[in-house]
Amino acid sequence: MTLLEVKNLKVEFVTVSGSVKAIDGVSFTVNRGEVVGVVGESGSGKTTLGLAILKILPLNGRIVSGEIIFDGRDLVKLSEEDMTKVRGKEISMIFQDPMTSLNPTMRIVDHVAEALIVHYRLSKEEARSKAIEALTAVGIPENRVLDYPHQLSGGMRQRVMIAISYALKPKLLIADEPTTALDVIVQDQILDLLKELRNRQKTSILFITHDLSVVADIADRVIIMYAGKIMEIGSVEQIYYSTLHPYTQGLLKSIPKIGSNSDLYTIPGNPPDMLNPPPGCRFHPRCPFAEEKCRKENPPLVEVSEGHYVACWRCVK
Ligand SMILES: Nc1ncnc2c1ncn2[C@@H]1O[C@H](COP(=O)(O)OP(=O)(O)O)[C@@H](O)[C@H]1O
Ligand SMILES: [Mg+2]
Repeated sequence: MTLLEVKNLKVEFVTVSGSVKAIDGVSFTVNRGEVVGVVGESGSGKTTLGLAILKILPLNGRIVSGEIIFDGRDLVKLSEEDMTKVRGKEISMIFQDPMTSLNPTMRIVDHVAEALIVHYRLSKEEARSKAIEALTAVGIPENRVLDYPHQLSGGMRQRVMIAISYALKPKLLIADEPTTALDVIVQDQILDLLKELRNRQKTSILFITHDLSVVADIADRVIIMYAGKIMEIGSVEQIYYSTLHPYTQGLLKSIPKIGSNSDLYTIPGNPPDMLNPPPGCRFHPRCPFAEEKCRKENPPLVEVSEGHYVACWRCVK
């Protein structure tokens, strides 16, 4: 059942001002065919988590410790040569701005075809016809497949990225804010496409977003991250209707409601400076319920009911 198991992962960046512990002891699982949302404000470590799983961290970043068990193998221990076989074919990643992953001088059909040639050693003709199949399956009309990336809208470019996943059939897709730059209607279309990908190919998806309202629509389970740590994990129902962590409660209150004209709530304060995160629970300076213990001791992530985990001293005695 389990496809990915991340165990006590720690990632840090070396900077001139010191080291940033961007991921600080994170553990979770993703099952086969499951969509898991990763939600948190900007700077909580979501992108770093995705890059670490694929081992494509920036040069000043490194995995300090932990395990990333994917389909039975620990990716942390895998050689760079073996990782190149995992990337794209077994795990692929799409980003907020597809332009960063697309070659501006290459026609979109060739992006998909090249991926097929590299990973499946298809002939040029075979790759091209499979590429056209994948592009039309994600809603790109056949008369557009010879376009260059800049000739397409943002939503269409994201479709090209999804077409690559559609063609390569990875077991896991890491989608890092794939709809954040798109307008609401296109956002819904892209979410529908990702759901279809999951339903048709049983692709597991790690869906990263800063927007808790988006995951309700697509995720089975949700991971709430704050300042490099997991605050809460649960099913969409548990996170929405049996919310435990004050941070999750704050995120939920910040979602705009249709028909309400009262001022939008924002969680007071700012995420911590990750060079000097606060001691104890990292959320305590912004938490309305913080007590003495919260300022001193970091609460462990514990399972309080079936599948519902929280790191908060209010819930753990
Ligand atoms: N290359 C880098 N060098 C130094 N710090 C970085 C680097 N990349 C990210 N960070 C820091 O790591 C933390 C997590 O960043 P990131 O994973 O991008 O968060 P998110 O995707 O949740 O917005 C932030 O404090 C960010 O400033
Ligand atoms: Mg990010």
